[in-house]
Amino acid sequence: MKIYHITAPCMFGLEAIVKNEVKDLGYEIVNVTDGRVTFQGDAMAICRSNINLRVAERILIEVADFKAVTFEQLFDQIKALPWEDYIPEDGKFWVKKANSIKSKLFSARDIQSIVKKAIVERLKEAYHTDVIEESGASYPIRIFIKKDMVNVTLDTSGDGLHKRGYRKMIAKAPIRETLGAALVLLSPWNKDRVLVDPFCGTGTIPIEAAMIGANIAPGLNREFEAETWTNIIPKKYWMDAVDEANDAIDHNVELNIQGFDIDYKAINVARDCAANAYVDEFIHFQDRPVSEFKTKKHYGVVVTNPPYGERLEDADSVAKLYKEMGNVFEPLTDWSIFVITSFDEFERYYGKKASKNRKLYNGMLKSYIYQYLGPRPPR
Ligand SMILES: C[S@@+](CC[C@H](N)C(=O)[O-])C[C@H]1O[C@@H](n2cnc3c(N)ncnc32)[C@H](O)[C@@H]1O
Repeated sequence: MKIYHITAPCMFGLEAIVKNEVKDLGYEIVNVTDGRVTFQGDAMAICRSNINLRVAERILIEVADFKAVTFEQLFDQIKALPWEDYIPEDGKFWVKKANSIKSKLFSARDIQSIVKKAIVERLKEAYHTDVIEESGASYPIRIFIKKDMVNVTLDTSGDGLHKRGYRKMIAKAPIRETLGAALVLLSPWNKDRVLVDPFCGTGTIPIEAAMIGANIAPGLNREFEAETWTNIIPKKYWMDAVDEANDAIDHNVELNIQGFDIDYKAINVARDCAANAYVDEFIHFQDRPVSEFKTKKHYGVVVTNPPYGERLEDADSVAKLYKEMGNVFEPLTDWSIFVITSFDEFERYYGKKASKNRKLYNGMLKSYIYQYLGPRPPR
């Protein structure tokens, strides 16, 4: 059984969560760097990680790392790799993405075309042919060059893993599903506690929480590029990994998850998304402004992504809204409150210093997760 080094890239700041998820799947961590968790596993690990990891952005097979400062070196070293072990004679391949930081080689287009040419030459020799037809399965390649070190990977996911398959329409400013799941996993929420998102928009955070609560794998509702790579991963492995994930679903769980938003259209989308994700029975959605939020429940958890002023609203109204949040949540003395925003001075307007805050990059946007940790519920 071939053992691969498999990399799960993630948002900067979320590596520890991905690392835990990988460990929970039973795989050994090889390395954790900024935005990347690398682990060791066989072909089944590729299926399991694609289907089960909630916070990873995609799953890559590590092909090689080497130093190159000229295009000639790049060509020669790419050609020297055993591509025939990965790409079959009719396989289709291209460099889907080439990134370069602080390196001599930086033109993405040149990197893409040279890598492609080198692989074509390698495969022609390996398969004793003059023509590479590329009529079969797709094998997208990703190249990442940092300080002249070239990292070559194969992308097994295709669409990013944040695409769970439950969101059919593009909505204004939804939080990425992987980040929504990360917030829930960072918080002290568990299936026995209430979870409230008072600014739920299209419902990402409540839906991700419900999937976590019912142990529904995030990748059960979509396809992955490597499902067609029968030369590397027998079809049966995918079916077995899906069966495993289906067997793990907790069908008897009872969850109390609530999503509110002032925008009724967003709430309608949230309801549709929850139904697509098979979690609508666990979530109560309602259009309601945060000012009307009241509860008699204890030890609940708020996980939310309020407006932050850069994309949708202006700074003054956001500051006012945070003040309102502070007032509304003040009586919830035994609740834990987790808020993600890129708005500086959130704590000042909210009126309370967080017990902890955590920086992360949501795309290029520097954001903070403000964590107000309440007491643990009694046993
Ligand atoms: C950044 S978006 C949240 C996006 C959401 N996490 C998602 O995945 O779609 C902020 C949301 O706050 C809502 N909102 C703005 N003012 C509000 C208020 N006073 N009460 C409740 N919701 C409000 C907006 O309608 C918007 O959907």
